[in-house]
Amino acid sequence: MKIGIFDSGIGGLSVLHEAYHRLPGQEYIFYADTEHVPYGTKTQEEIIGFAVDNTKFLLEKGAEALVVACNTATSVAIKELRRRFDIPILGMEPAVKPAVEETEDKRIMVIATPVTIREDKLKDLLHRVDEEHRVDLMAMPRLVEFAENEQFDTEEVRGYIRGQFANFDPANYSALVLGCTHFNYFKPALQEFFGKDTLLVDGNFGTVHHLADVLNLNMNDSQDTEVYFDDYHKMLGSVKTEYYFSKKFVSDEKTLEHLKRLHNRLEEVRKI
Ligand code: DGL
Repeated sequence: MKIGIFDSGIGGLSVLHEAYHRLPGQEYIFYADTEHVPYGTKTQEEIIGFAVDNTKFLLEKGAEALVVACNTATSVAIKELRRRFDIPILGMEPAVKPAVEETEDKRIMVIATPVTIREDKLKDLLHRVDEEHRVDLMAMPRLVEFAENEQFDTEEVRGYIRGQFANFDPANYSALVLGCTHFNYFKPALQEFFGKDTLLVDGNFGTVHHLADVLNLNMNDSQDTEVYFDDYHKMLGSVKTEYYFSKKFVSDEKTLEHLKRLHNRLEEVRKI
């Protein structure tokens, strides 16, 4: 099965990375719309246009199913994609439900892009699952920028996190929901800020699990596998992935090295 995965940028690699663990036998086409990143501060019309273009491109390349590995594009464009294209299309939304179910009493912080925070899709989700009104929301657009610049653990990143939560007490939070796929790269800095008792919840496992269900694929349930990339030729050869950065097939050494570093980072932070 050839599975297309797109995001505005490198955030979606975290979904692909989880798919490597859980569904290693499939073929993937990964599309990062690096020309238009970030989506999280753009208009609905713009994001819908990008999402439609990305999907058309992936269908031309032979995708038989699609994962919108982007909470922002899902919140504004998923209906339009499903209306136009006749393949299974999965979206992502902040994993508020597992956070509510897995923690008791204290509060839950959801971080996402400004678009995701303001759209009705998240409000509808909260209406359904946040019966006790435990959820607070925070837009963190600069984390997308930092991620695209491969800045994950710097003092600037830590300062930004501290500044955004200056009026909040991190000790009040039992869970932090990463409602943007780019935010996975910052798990160490976020965990450090919130403290070890705050559970970090991302949507990657849930999304891949859902994909396996929809496509009727068997998931690898082993917790112990590790997916590091020693050499990008092996990385491309062994997991059958084509990478595109805004319609451009990635084959140059510099970008492949970049992808390798990102996958290795995702492996390091996966269990946090
Ligand atoms: N990675 C995307 C998300 O999950 C969007 C980041 C952006 O382009 O602003 O929301």
